Parts: sequence; structure tokens; C-alpha cells
Amino acid sequence: MNDLITMDDLTNEEIIKLLDDAKKMLPAAKGDVYLPLLQGKVLANMFFENSTRTRMSFETAMKRLGGRVLNFTSAGSSVAKGETLYDTMQMIDGYSDVAVIRHPRQGAAQYSADAVKIPILNAGDGAGNHPTQTLLDLFTIREEHNDFENLNIMLVGDLRYGRTAHSLSHALARFNVNLTLVSPEALKMPKEIVDDLLSLGCNVIETDELNENIKHSDVIYMTRIQKERFPDEDEYAKVSGIYKISESNLVGSKENMIIMHPLPRVSEIHPSVDSTKYARYFQQAFNGIPTRMALLCKSLGIDIEKEVS
Ligand code: NCD
Repeated sequence: MNDLITMDDLTNEEIIKLLDDAKKMLPAAKGDVYLPLLQGKVLANMFFENSTRTRMSFETAMKRLGGRVLNFTSAGSSVAKGETLYDTMQMIDGYSDVAVIRHPRQGAAQYSADAVKIPILNAGDGAGNHPTQTLLDLFTIREEHNDFENLNIMLVGDLRYGRTAHSLSHALARFNVNLTLVSPEALKMPKEIVDDLLSLGCNVIETDELNENIKHSDVIYMTRIQKERFPDEDEYAKVSGIYKISESNLVGSKENMIIMHPLPRVSEIHPSVDSTKYARYFQQAFNGIPTRMALLCKSLGIDIEKEVS
């Protein structure tokens, strides 16, 4: 099966192989070498919801590997005429070799995968999952810390609606990290996900306190409060801007602690952090290219290990 809908679609061995493959892709990701492994292949970028990094890094990854990209956005398409997701995906099945889909409805990626023959890569389904973001998050953590075992990782912010936190926590729990989940009561990680993390043997602490946990952390993963998922504006107003990190909060942090964020940030990380040694969020965004290169190759049956020495 070449779909990627949730991190459960990958074994731990497959995850590690993708991260190793991504590392091999770095020169091609930077454009230092041209590696046309996907020449003649077409990727359909199906974005029914806004995106900057995910869409563009998939496009760069495909193009740097010699492939081509069809870009779909729901504005300007026949969705406005009432075309269903099922019918739209039937077209894409015929027009491309692999499709990336982002959709506001949870479950839309699985639904698409069930409807077509080509591989489907979930680039975010509502408040559900975002597994390709998780791959680049894991790559970023591994580049810094080499291994995941026993790392203290703090996930901060909107853990209720934040799909990046859902997918990432699932994956990290499988690699024996300690997770501190920091959120206000109203935005706690869904209970079924916490139960999964615990059943995987992960140490999980749930708290609403950010500052006292900073000095123990190896990774601080900040997230945006997902305004667009709130049923009520007033509820958003109560929690907006609740967690903010600035340079002064970082005094006493571990030497090799890193601060990550899937971006876009709103007010979670003050620009004063950007020039500190802790900031990794822009590097993290770049890491979307090598990891998505590795994933596209896997989905299209190209073994990077054989192709690149
Ligand atoms: C995230 C998303 O779309 O879930 N963005 C991304 O893909 N880098 C995070 C967010 O929108 O807050």
C-alpha cells in the first residue's frame, strides 16, 4: 500500500528508512545536484484548504526530481459548481501518478484513497492528521539529536485541533520519547490519542504550564491556535495568544534544545528567538523538501538506496 493517511501506515523501520533516504536527498533538495528520479511522473497537488509550505515543498521536491506538478485549488475549480470530492478524485486518478490532498474535513484523505488507484498522501485532513509534516518534524529532531530515545519533547498550544501534534505525538510515542503536552484545558489533546500514547508505553505529562518545563526540554514544539476550527469566535478569543516564547524565556535551557513550529506562527514565537541558536523552524520548513522527495520516491516505487550511493 503506497498511501500515507496516518502514521500508522508506516512501520518504525519504514519511518527510519524514509529519514535515511531524506538525508541522501539533501544535495538534490538544495539544488546542488540534479537527480531526475521522477522524470515523466506527474504529481497532483489537491489543496481544498490554504497552504504555503506543504504545497510548495511538495512541488519543489517533485520538480527537483525531474517530475511535473498539477496544482489544484478549490477556488476556480468545478467544486464551485457542486462537484463532489469523489468525482474530482476520479479525474485526478487519470491525470496523475500520485496525489497530495489537503481538505478541511477529517477523513477526506482516507475517503480519497479508497476512491482511486494512485497513491494518496494526506497533507492535512481537518483536525485529523498531517503525517508528511511528521516526517519532516522527525527528520529535524533526528538531525539535531541523532536519536529519539528518551528525549524530553514538549508539544505546546492547540493540541485539540492541531493535526501536526496528533500525527507527531503518535510517531514519537513509538520511539520512546517523554512527552509533555502543554495546553489550556479547552485545547487538551483528545483523550483517545492520549490513551493511544500511553498504550504505546510513552511517558505522558499533561499540563497548562509552559515556562517551568522549558529547562528540561530537548525539543519545544510550538503550535498555532487553530482559529478556523473553532465553532465559536468567543471561545477562540479566550485562548488566543495564550502561549508565547521570547528570548527571555529561554535562559537556562539545555545547550542543544531546539524550538520547532510547523508554521505559520501567529504570536507563539517572538521574532527575538529567530536569531538564537535554539530556533529551528525555518530549517524545519526546508526539511519538507528532502523528506517529501523520499516519500514521493517510495510512493512511486523508486528505491533511493539503489539509485543514490
Ligand atoms: C500546519 C497545518 O496546516 O496543519 N501547517 C503546515 O502544514 N506547516 C500548521 C498550522 O496551520 O497551524
